[in-house]
Amino acid sequence: MQDKYIDETKQGEAFAISEKPANSKKLFLESYGCQMNFSDSEIVASILNEQGYNTTLKPEEADLILLNTCSIREKAEQTVRMRLSQFKNLKKERPNLTVGVLGCMAERLKTKFLEEEQLVDLVVGPDAYRDLPNLLKETDDGRDAINVILSKEETYADINPVRLGGNGVTAFVTITRGCDNMCTFCVVPFTRGRERSRDPHSIIEECKGLWNSGYKEITLLGQNVDSYLWYGGGAKKDFKNATEMQKLTAISFAKLLEMVAVAVPEMRIRFSTSNPHDMTTDVFKVMAEHANICKYIHLPVQSGSNTMLEKMNRQHTREEYLSLINKAKELIPDISFSQDMIIGFCGEKEEDHQLTLSLMREVEYDYGYMFAYSERPGTPAHKKMEDDIPSDVKQRRLAEVIALQGELSRKRMEGYVGRSHEILIEGTSRKNENQWKGRNSQNAVCVFDKQEGQKLGDMVSVFVYGNTQGTLLGTQANSAVV
Ligand code: SAH
Ligand code: F3S
Repeated sequence: MQDKYIDETKQGEAFAISEKPANSKKLFLESYGCQMNFSDSEIVASILNEQGYNTTLKPEEADLILLNTCSIREKAEQTVRMRLSQFKNLKKERPNLTVGVLGCMAERLKTKFLEEEQLVDLVVGPDAYRDLPNLLKETDDGRDAINVILSKEETYADINPVRLGGNGVTAFVTITRGCDNMCTFCVVPFTRGRERSRDPHSIIEECKGLWNSGYKEITLLGQNVDSYLWYGGGAKKDFKNATEMQKLTAISFAKLLEMVAVAVPEMRIRFSTSNPHDMTTDVFKVMAEHANICKYIHLPVQSGSNTMLEKMNRQHTREEYLSLINKAKELIPDISFSQDMIIGFCGEKEEDHQLTLSLMREVEYDYGYMFAYSERPGTPAHKKMEDDIPSDVKQRRLAEVIALQGELSRKRMEGYVGRSHEILIEGTSRKNENQWKGRNSQNAVCVFDKQEGQKLGDMVSVFVYGNTQGTLLGTQANSAVV
């Protein structure tokens, strides 16, 4: 499976890239959680690059260690705490070392981090990264520093991210920040604040810049990309009243997607995450019209039961979700879907669970990201509902959902066999260095033998002759079919 959601049990990736050769200080920056965090880390690296820091892969040689953290489930937070305790010894050996926590845990725990843990010197929320230079001056003077103020406007639109540790082929471009949907289980609205959209012109400029630097695929990112909205020449706040605002044409997500597809016509375009409540058929039409927009939608549903969907405040029914899926299937031939599911949410009965399984069979998702419900302090579910499903029941249901997704993935992969696919070469296969790995438009991973003269970023036509549960096995013309 692809890591839309980077497995929290795995240590977050650290990156090294040489930025400004003249920089003498070293930053070790590790990211946990969603793609948004990885993208934010590139903004942080860019800000700190201007302050004399280049990144390093080795925490032992760093002057500054930053962890960009995730709060989505309890386990994600535990992983970060464990990592911080590993840095404790480094701090003892080198009193000048500064350790900081960024992102959602910083926002959720605020000063508690400085008080309880004594492990960190710096706490910075997702909207306060521009303040890092000032905060670092405070820590340099030996004081703890914190800024967890959330903003209604910050989009970091003018900051050109330093591309970290990537393959030089695929990149993330943030289009919205925050989330205004109050799903009752979710901590994101509290840690990332109100939703705001980024100026489309800066988005287009960033995409063109990436194309000119050799990138071949971008993923437009937001907690809920479908609610992207930009009013004429400015943001909502720039207009006196609604009428004045409506006189100008608003730019919706569908429109933005089209603008990007036209601006970088040879670039592959993906987007994540879509929200069934806000997604419109206009998006499907734009996807169908532009060959460079990938035929893949990550459309989290969380549960197949209307009772659960209502308790979760998802603002749509099972039937509405399925009709959206069917509309997409009708308008976009060869479309593929992936899901997010929460298993064992408050009050989930066996019949609710069966409805989740039946919905999965109906949609036939290519992939899924499935987790047992983890109660998060401060969320509406924590305040008003009881986390009453015993852990063994959650685990049994989760295992059933994962097993079914395995079957569906295998079936979907089988459906790709016997024809050629356009694959973007994104790297060398982990299992075999003589093979490339890449993805087709539907986001399915394909491995195939390398050929002379090929390089990362090439788009090649690959005949798929077989599959495993999650991978396509391919061969190129001129290669011997296995
Ligand atoms: N808006 C983004 C981010 C949501 S968080 C998106 O839709 O992807 C990503 C996923 O984490 C959610 O879709 C949900 O399936 C899962 N998640 C969120 N809160 C959770 C919780 N308290 N317990 C378990 N999983 C959760
Ligand atoms: Fe969370 Fe729901 Fe927003 S899952 S990020 S509150 S759409």
